[in-house]
Amino acid sequence: MRFAGKVVVITGASRGIGEGIARRFATEGATVALASNEDRVHSVAAALREIGGQVSSHIVDVTDSAQVSALYDSIARDRGRIDVSIQNAGVITIKPLADLTEREWDLIMDVNTKGVFLCCQAAARHMVAQGAGRLINTASGQARQGFIYTPHYAASKFGVVGLTQSLAKELAAAGITVNAFCPGIIDTDMWAYNDREWGQLLGTYAPGELMAEWVRGIPLKRAGTAADVAGLVAFLASDDAAYITGQTINVDGGLIMS
Ligand SMILES: NC(=O)c1ccc[n+]([C@@H]2O[C@H](COP(=O)([O-])OP(=O)(O)OC[C@H]3O[C@@H](n4cnc5c(N)ncnc54)[C@H](O)[C@@H]3O)[C@@H](O)[C@H]2O)c1
Repeated sequence: MRFAGKVVVITGASRGIGEGIARRFATEGATVALASNEDRVHSVAAALREIGGQVSSHIVDVTDSAQVSALYDSIARDRGRIDVSIQNAGVITIKPLADLTEREWDLIMDVNTKGVFLCCQAAARHMVAQGAGRLINTASGQARQGFIYTPHYAASKFGVVGLTQSLAKELAAAGITVNAFCPGIIDTDMWAYNDREWGQLLGTYAPGELMAEWVRGIPLKRAGTAADVAGLVAFLASDDAAYITGQTINVDGGLIMS
């Protein structure tokens, strides 16, 4: 029960990595606010309440500053404070350069980078007033190295790292740490999409084949799970990480070593 009495906000919590992080914090006693732009977030919250967590769910589009501010203000009002905010909502598309539209570029940058900025800004307003807080941002292996056919996604995730470092320097004086993490190949809906789209563009891979090929290149020889990622995020939110800020940490079975 490391997080008993702590209020934790998680975006992109309706499935995948965000759902796994939410489960971990609920299990460790936190009061958890799940946010997402899809209704499924309500059933995830209901399932976490069944295991005893204090959990609320909120529909929010992280690209909309008014919705984001309203989310954090309502949680702070209802729960009294915001201790940890995890900016995890993200989207990807996979396209050769010639087919990549301006609309897609804007969408990926808006959700993955601007969304992180807006949530950090809204959460920090409350954390600065408290004199403490933890901001934790989801980057990607593609914040370390751009992959083929995802220039917009790689740019959006490299952006998260720069934003994390800059905010870590500004907010340190207010007692707030800011860190990011880079998942590698994590078995979620997003990776099912990646496997299908990259598989078609890179050859004649049947569903699952490309992922299996890439997993063979991972030193630990398996895809990651949302629970693997949640372990790192919980550490970054814990007292044990009090002296860590401005860092970006890979959670990828050794896929990228840098
Ligand atoms: N799965 C992987 O292998 C992998 C690898 C590296 C990085 N990531 C990153 O991890 C994060 C979670 O990925 P995942 O695999 O769980 O993805 P997912 O597609 O399973 O879930 C994405 C979540 O983001 C939410 N979301 C999308 N757009 C939103 C918006 N505008 N406003 C609010 N919520 C929005 C969705 O509702 C959902 O809850 C993303 O930032 C992704 O880029 C994933």
